[in-house]
Amino acid sequence: MAENSNFKSPKRLSSLQGGPSDQSSGAVPGEKTRDASLEGIDFERRNFLGKAVGGIGAVVAAGTLYPVVKYITPPAEKEVKDVDEKVVGKASEVPPDSGKIYQFNKDKVIVVNNGGQLTACSAVCTHLGCLVQWKEDEELIYCACHGARYEQDGKIISGPQPLPLAPYNVRVDGDDLVISKA
Ligand code: FES
Repeated sequence: MAENSNFKSPKRLSSLQGGPSDQSSGAVPGEKTRDASLEGIDFERRNFLGKAVGGIGAVVAAGTLYPVVKYITPPAEKEVKDVDEKVVGKASEVPPDSGKIYQFNKDKVIVVNNGGQLTACSAVCTHLGCLVQWKEDEELIYCACHGARYEQDGKIISGPQPLPLAPYNVRVDGDDLVISKA
């Protein structure tokens, strides 16, 4: 450690080479004090560098972890207010003899066009919650999970479901398809 300090001190080097110095006699008495003081400076420098490197490491770690934590944390659900009526799409999206599912408030609603007769009811099967579909060939609403069958307006035909499908109103307004609470 003392050697290291000597390299950082031109005066010390000069005195070792016999050059001029403040202590031209080359007297040793002050040397120990100077070396000790230089060691103190080195220690403080190392201490400062250690803290600086630690600080930079903490910033880098935080910068790396933040996006990871953000990615795995589910976003807070936005509170969406229920509406009584909503334009869900275009009437042309449900041509005759077809059905299409739309989001309406927190429910999914199936709009059925059976030969021009429009109806709407919940698309969530009351058995275990699968989504139903319009079965054109049988003219009924069908749940493929366990075979529940409903009439076009959601009444039960057969199957394990305990309740009919919740009814909704549907109408065409210009080109728009409008669903509203029943
Ligand atoms: S969830 Fe529809 S029949 Fe079981």
